[in-house]
Amino acid sequence: MNKTDRQPRLLVIGSINMDLCMYGLQGLPAWGTTTFAGEYRYSAGGKGANQALACAKLGADTYMVGRIGHDENGERLMASLRSGLVHTDYIVCDPAESTGLATINMTAGGEYFSLYAPGANYALCMEDFERALTAVDPDMIVMQLEMPREVAYKILETGRTRQIPVFLDAGPAQSVPLERLQGAFVISPNEAETLALTGIDPSDEDRMRTAAQMIYQAASPAYVILKLGSRGSYIYSDSDAKLVPAYPVNAVDTTAAGDTFGAAFCVRYCQGEEPEEAVRFAGAAAAVCVTRKGGQPSIPTLEEATRFYEERRC
Ligand code: ATP
Ligand code: RIB
Repeated sequence: MNKTDRQPRLLVIGSINMDLCMYGLQGLPAWGTTTFAGEYRYSAGGKGANQALACAKLGADTYMVGRIGHDENGERLMASLRSGLVHTDYIVCDPAESTGLATINMTAGGEYFSLYAPGANYALCMEDFERALTAVDPDMIVMQLEMPREVAYKILETGRTRQIPVFLDAGPAQSVPLERLQGAFVISPNEAETLALTGIDPSDEDRMRTAAQMIYQAASPAYVILKLGSRGSYIYSDSDAKLVPAYPVNAVDTTAAGDTFGAAFCVRYCQGEEPEEAVRFAGAAAAVCVTRKGGQPSIPTLEEATRFYEERRC
């Protein structure tokens, strides 16, 4: 049996959103004015749900914890997760809240800004998590910060107490005391999140190292993995630090690239892959993702990611 045939059991906790993606934005509106976009589409998203779908598509037995509202968007998002074979028994349908909604407003050059109404996502509580954790007994917990802060901190503490590794995608960008992220096994911010957490823009390798070191020293994870868009990723541990370049592709939409990257890393790591190799596979899965539009619709299958990885790795 190959090690990649082993099916890890992953528990993903976090956001479930409907994304309204507007493409071809012609600029930023001033207050009281209208700016035109071109094409738009609704797409299933949310950092947590994207991670969960990516984990399942890339080979993990995946359980999702989160909250949706009692509405049509919630039903569509549940259907998207179920079609990807994510276990949805621990997703709470909250009668008092709306399903989360994000608008992702993108220029033709790929720059974007997002507006976010979290709705039910911010009613997520520790009871939702504890119920799933006890039943699932996962190999790894996968999370981000699109949830109430105190819940995020408690999940990290629980992971540490129960000795279950926690992968923390540090998005969305926000200033969080690094000490509060103790308990994470991996901390993985993108460029904006690195700047928000450390005050350092990881624009060159020296700055990548300084930022990663700052996170490593304050929060004590085993690995810091910076996501650097088309520049690739930077993996830092007590024994090594390395920039792993991205695969050159024609990127059309980076939505869910970071979520796919983190999910792919977790699946491969739990299958026993060396962290650096898991990062290379994650870069391949994310590279396929950026060549397609939308959040969840752009997440590759295991076959697609593996084919790309085997054809393109050097
Ligand atoms: P998201 O847009 O989902 O929030 P993110 O900002 O968290 O993503 P990025 O750094 O944009 O994360 O992307 C994650 C990974 O995807 C990168 O580390 C890289 O491996 C891959 N990637 C992103 N953009 C490109 C690109 N233009 N070409 C090739 N690979 C890319
Ligand atoms: O990481 C991408 C996701 O962030 C989008 O799907 C959007 O819903 C926001 O949560």
